[in-house]
Amino acid sequence: MEAAAIRFSDTVRGEVQGDVLVVIIENPPVNALSVDVRAGLVAALDRAAGDAGILGLVITGAGKTFIGGADIREFGQPPVEPILPAVIERLEDSEKPTVAAINGAALGGGLEVALGCHYRVASSAAQTGFPEVKLGIVPGAGGTQRLPRLIGIPAAIDLIGSGRSVKAKEAHVLGLIDEIADAGTVEAALVAVRRLAGRDPRRTGQLAVPATDSAAVEKAKTRILAKARGQEAPAEAIRLIEAAARPLAEGLADERATFLKLRESSEAAALRHVFFAERQASKVEDLEGVPPRLVETIGIAGLGLMGSGIAVAALSAGYRVVGLDRDDEAAARGRERILGLLQKNLSAGRIDQAMFDAQESRLSVTAADADLAPCDLVIEAVFDDLDVKIDLFRRLDRVIRPDAILATNTSYLNPDEIAAATAHPERVLGLHFFSPAHVMRLLEVVRCARTAPDVLATGLAVAKKLRKLPIVTGVTEGFIGNSIFSAYRREAEFLLEDGALPHEIDAALEDYGFPMGLFAVYDMAGLEIAWARRKRQAAKRDPSERYVEIADRLCEAGRLGQKAGRGWYAYPEGKRQVDPVVTEIIVQCRAGKGITPRSFTATEIVGRLLAAMAAEGRKLLEDGIAARESDIDLVMINGYGFPAHKGGPMFVATQTPR
Ligand code: 3HC
Repeated sequence: MEAAAIRFSDTVRGEVQGDVLVVIIENPPVNALSVDVRAGLVAALDRAAGDAGILGLVITGAGKTFIGGADIREFGQPPVEPILPAVIERLEDSEKPTVAAINGAALGGGLEVALGCHYRVASSAAQTGFPEVKLGIVPGAGGTQRLPRLIGIPAAIDLIGSGRSVKAKEAHVLGLIDEIADAGTVEAALVAVRRLAGRDPRRTGQLAVPATDSAAVEKAKTRILAKARGQEAPAEAIRLIEAAARPLAEGLADERATFLKLRESSEAAALRHVFFAERQASKVEDLEGVPPRLVETIGIAGLGLMGSGIAVAALSAGYRVVGLDRDDEAAARGRERILGLLQKNLSAGRIDQAMFDAQESRLSVTAADADLAPCDLVIEAVFDDLDVKIDLFRRLDRVIRPDAILATNTSYLNPDEIAAATAHPERVLGLHFFSPAHVMRLLEVVRCARTAPDVLATGLAVAKKLRKLPIVTGVTEGFIGNSIFSAYRREAEFLLEDGALPHEIDAALEDYGFPMGLFAVYDMAGLEIAWARRKRQAAKRDPSERYVEIADRLCEAGRLGQKAGRGWYAYPEGKRQVDPVVTEIIVQCRAGKGITPRSFTATEIVGRLLAAMAAEGRKLLEDGIAARESDIDLVMINGYGFPAHKGGPMFVATQTPR
């Protein structure tokens, strides 16, 4: 029998399938709950309530998403009726059974709609979760009150507090969904409606919160709050969940007020900026419609720490990998290192044995350049020295296919010079990974002077498949990230000379939300590489430029960082501690330059560092190295520990008038 079609709004339609109304949300790209969708759902509920021939409703989404949540684009504006909590209340209160057929991602408000239904069926590929804290808010349509009623307080704190999403299988184990339907979620939902019709509906909001073991609550809270560093939303979510045992209406009112308050916060504005920035980053103006080349096999030249990390990322993404190193012994060592990292993934449960075996079978290593002949892309990760890289690229240029691509992973060298040494500079680009390369999400994709558009498009496509966040950058020393990091570092050293101490600068940065202060990071990484670079550059340095010698004095005194047991700090029993010897060195350097130190507040310290970053960012934009401010923000957040909830240095600069 042909189902009768009904339109409830521009984005919500219905099909009467016998005695059940199937409500389909069709609001591409992700079926977000815009005002038209909310109005459509209310119209569908009205229709079902008033039609004696309808037993109940199935709610589902068109396309691959169930509902991607509230419409984030509406967040800057005042709420418009019907508001989501009211729509969900209608769903829950319905006398006729309401069943969610979760055909794909059910996130945030989308999952709240599902929780308002009396029964939930999901496809096994569906993802469910509450990503609100990642947007600086809490769920605003019952999530913090209904979820604990279904799965208990500790599990609700874990899910809502972390913002992580879980696949249908885990959601089923948790009790968040009732049934996994491998063949047709709507069909299974229809069966459920007919089974539930005429019975008392199981309304989530009327369930009692399961009795809770307070140790489990504490454990879940501690884990979330340890990561929340200075953010408001996770703590507020926990507070609401812990109080879920009170009457539903009271809990919902508190949740709504908290949601509306947080929605206006600077934290939420910053995180919304990051959300849209990430989606914007992959849009490169002149690459639209340029198809990437097919990449199946990736060569990696140099199997040190960086190369091995890249290999693990590539194997995990399903690529075949051919690793090249200088001799058989080095190649074998590289293979061991890569397998060691894969083994760690196995032990941690991130992959299973079958996946490990498949990844191992796709890996080969060699000391012969000619073995890279089948590669579609070769990424070099050898020592950062121009002659070494040029020699390697000349050799590779001769052995790889004419349509294969060559990528350099240099941090500071000029990739145009490396490209120029090859016969085909148009097939050369930079892929600047961050260490450890299998963990860090940021990948700077460097467009060299002669990189062909489809080569750049391939770099972006590979980056996506590697599950990285690719940001396109032009060529300048240090690209986007290290250029800004240099400006930040320089300013921090000026602050030292002007009167701030390393621990004061670090404390200000950590308070602001950086996971670790700059000088503590230096100590962890070791001071000698930068020292060697400074010595190499000494002859070229402009004597009229301000140069701070404090780091050189520390290195000369053997204070090379944490591994040496001392650097910017002392490390008795491994614990970071202020060292009066360092203070003395700083005092002497200031005196040597005739500087009278002054004191700085934490706000002044952070203000100066942020201003230095933003100024360098503006220069990169003027020079065409970065395409947009938000790309710079993403680089600093994902590569250098800039707190996401502040939005990045460029975002901060737009919020604070100059
Ligand atoms: N509102 C508005 N636009 C959204 C959106 C949302 N909730 N989610 C995604 N979009 C837009 C993106 O900006 C992008 O737009 P563009 O094409 O113009 O750049 C487009 O949809 C596609 O997004 P993705 O590239 O992310 O698509 P994917 O297919 O890779 O992923 C997804 C789909 C998993 C749904 C992913 O988009 C996602 O995670 N979205 C955000 C989910 C979220 O945070 N929801 C919670 C919202 S807050 C809420 O619900 C509050 C409630 O409690 C009251």
